[in-house]
Amino acid sequence: MQTIRVETPSAEYDIFAGSGLLETLAPRIERAVGKLPRRVFVLTSAPIWALWGEAFLSSFADAPVVLFLEPGEKHKTMASVDKLLRQMARAGADRGSLLIAFGGGIVGDVGGFLAAIYMRGISYVQVPTTFLAQVDSSVGGKVGVNLPEGKNLVGNFHHPRAVFADIAVLGTLPERELKAGLMESIKAGIIRDRTLLRFMEEHADQVLARDAKALEKVIATSIRMKAGVVNRDEHENGLRMILNLGHTVGHALEQSTGYKVLLHGEAVGWGMIAVLHLARQRGTISASQFARLEKAIHLYGPLPPLNLRPEKVVAATGGDKKNVGGVRRFVLPVGIGDAGVVEDVAPSELDAAVRYMLAQAGANTANR
Ligand SMILES: NC(=O)c1ccc[n+]([C@@H]2O[C@H](COP(=O)([O-])OP(=O)(O)OC[C@H]3O[C@@H](n4cnc5c(N)ncnc54)[C@H](O)[C@@H]3O)[C@@H](O)[C@H]2O)c1
Ligand SMILES: [Zn+2]
Repeated sequence: MQTIRVETPSAEYDIFAGSGLLETLAPRIERAVGKLPRRVFVLTSAPIWALWGEAFLSSFADAPVVLFLEPGEKHKTMASVDKLLRQMARAGADRGSLLIAFGGGIVGDVGGFLAAIYMRGISYVQVPTTFLAQVDSSVGGKVGVNLPEGKNLVGNFHHPRAVFADIAVLGTLPERELKAGLMESIKAGIIRDRTLLRFMEEHADQVLARDAKALEKVIATSIRMKAGVVNRDEHENGLRMILNLGHTVGHALEQSTGYKVLLHGEAVGWGMIAVLHLARQRGTISASQFARLEKAIHLYGPLPPLNLRPEKVVAATGGDKKNVGGVRRFVLPVGIGDAGVVEDVAPSELDAAVRYMLAQAGANTANR
């Protein structure tokens, strides 16, 4: 097991990553957070609970109150939040109650948001069960829900009191979800940690076979990268922006495909390829670095094919939430292990990058 410390101006806590944490969860929470309160709530979703509920409950002397969120992004809404808050109130949740978010990033974001606003804020713990949730969404304290007008438009910063990332739980994760999540680790390597990138290049077989040691290494290192960035820039005023490598184009791809075709990590994989092309053209990475990074992404592929018009993708990059005052921001790798934010990407540069990416993605743009 590895322990990663988060230390921001507003919160200090540990993230634990290792195999078999679930079976000993209750004493681990007590050690990290203090004695369990009278009312403990678990937010999860039915498919996860069916697989792992028994293991989850095995370490609790008093069974917690279990709340269910319907699976799927379309339930990450204020309507779900309203329903769950009322269930908590009816079950006697008070200021001293503890909420445990047990699931993927959707459960984590909604659970954290419930904890942020119930009685103006209660304590919560994250027990992420997808690769993406372990390396990304459970780290950094961003919580919230979607609006029909856009993803993650409502939310807050509310840090958990501790995070327990049990690698064994990933044993039941569909392969596609695993690979998509791994794109965030590739991203971590590209922007901040060339040793992680090298490890992922050299051990792709073990990682994809879910070898516990290899997974622990990739997960703990990715968490350490993100925690390090969050520690220095809690509220995304500067450095934290670099975590968005590949995300401007990635979000545009998700939006252009109606959020139905691509998993988030897959969109980020293609988005990174577009941005690598941009960086290559600008000379912030060399031709050989470009080839190496593109190959690393494909090692964890294949990414799903795309059949989109470049104009549509380019237009969709304008709607990214991270744009301030209409300025289109891009994170570009600088060599391997560093990155910077640029705001002066010309339409022609972006167009070329998107066309390159769509050509790799097998798009037949000639007759569309
Ligand atoms: N807060 C943040 O900083 C942050 C960062 C990145 C992403 N996010 C959010 O995370 C969400 C995506 O999270 P996700 O990719 O984990 O998706 P998800 O929560 O939908 O989980 C993916 C799928 O895997 C299933 N699943 C979860 N754990 C499993 C397990 N152990 N075994 C088998 N199946 C399992 C789920 O039921 C679901 O069908 C998005 O809403 C995104 O906005 C938040
Ligand atoms: Zn992401």
